[in-house]
Amino acid sequence: MWRLHPDVLRASAIGLAAFVFGAAWQAVTPERVPPGLPPIQLEPGALFTEFGPLPALPTQTPAAVTLGAKLFEDPKLSGSGQIACASCHNRELAFADGVSRSFGHDRTRLTRNAPSLVTAGWMSTLFWDGRADSLETQAILPILHPDEMHGSLPQVRERLAADAGYRDAFADAFGDAQVTDARIAQALAAFQRSLSPRRSRYSRFIAGEVDALDAGQKRGLALFRGKAGCASCHNGPLLSDQRFHNLGLSFYGRQRQDLGRYAVTGAREDVGAFRTPSLLGVSRTAPYMHNGGIPTLAGVVAFYNAGGARPRPRGDELNDPLFPETSALLRPRNLTREEQADLVAFLEAL
Ligand code: HEC
Ligand code: HEC
Repeated sequence: MWRLHPDVLRASAIGLAAFVFGAAWQAVTPERVPPGLPPIQLEPGALFTEFGPLPALPTQTPAAVTLGAKLFEDPKLSGSGQIACASCHNRELAFADGVSRSFGHDRTRLTRNAPSLVTAGWMSTLFWDGRADSLETQAILPILHPDEMHGSLPQVRERLAADAGYRDAFADAFGDAQVTDARIAQALAAFQRSLSPRRSRYSRFIAGEVDALDAGQKRGLALFRGKAGCASCHNGPLLSDQRFHNLGLSFYGRQRQDLGRYAVTGAREDVGAFRTPSLLGVSRTAPYMHNGGIPTLAGVVAFYNAGGARPRPRGDELNDPLFPETSALLRPRNLTREEQADLVAFLEAL
């Protein structure tokens, strides 16, 4: 029997650490930056990760994905038996629903816009306010929400267990036919992790095909990373820093007030802050923002060009410590009409 000398072990541990560290370090060295990326200009305080292709997610078991897809489309998960996940996350609409605010149980109007799910598998927190920390935790919430699916878990389990097709599908995915809440959540999560944004001109460009973007889209990309200031928040492979920012859209003190991240953390600086969304596939998911309040990408660009919204406190609000402050990363950009059109062309290439 042979043994490695402790020095050799130590050396290889250091070697491994250097290799792992080296790999992480390499990811940000200029050699690894995809070719053709214009220079980056950031606002102070921005947290930047370089643009790049999406990393692969762990492969999902095909049987769990199949079961998840079946559950996702099935109105049996709702109290009324009429609403499925897919009612608000429609495959044809990049798993969003095309309306500013979704309709739920009994046609109740929800307060927020249904996001596309094609990048959900890469997100470290879910929902506009980041209140769920995994797809498994998230999956049960719309089923139970009284305004969304108005369901109950015992009822869902009972309906699924009574269906021979589901018993087989659970057995294929999990080894036996038992229907449990955790398995329902796991299958829905597996299905969503199997989704990914469509191939686009941008995805080809970022994979190294430098001419996949045309001249106008390249000018748009340069503005996005430069003068227009977008990359201070929309960066990394998702074009999201996954942080929370207040763009001034909280309707503070008004009827449709939505305090966003503040409801999760209770921190003053989170009043009106929402998670930076991924922009991959964004041309297919109008209308935009957490409340679906901006109908077009041209409208979004005009909004940012004006520096976002900056409501001023009035009267009693002057002494209100919670009055939200719009992010300092936003300011008027003085983009010309042509520049705004180029930026829209770039967003459409995503
Ligand atoms: C009635 C409409 C509706 C139904 C039904 C619905 N959702 Fe959603 N979904 C929404 C809305 C609106 C949001 C955003 C809510 C928020 O951020 O507070 C959302 C958010 C999400 C997110 C977060 C995505 C992200 O990027 O943060 C996931 C994941 C999701 N839904 C999955 C599901 C699953 C799985 C089901 C079925 C079990 C489902 N949804 C049913 C409307 C719906
Ligand atoms: C301060 C950080 C920040 C900057 C800078 C920024 N964004 Fe955003 N972006 C966000 C956040 C946060 C949201 C969601 C805000 C909300 O709904 O209240 C958002 C939403 C969007 C949306 C809507 C996406 C959807 O699915 O609804 C688009 C499109 C967008 N931004 C494009 C841009 C462009 C183009 C620029 C540059 C002109 C830009 N953003 C600059 C943080 C930022």
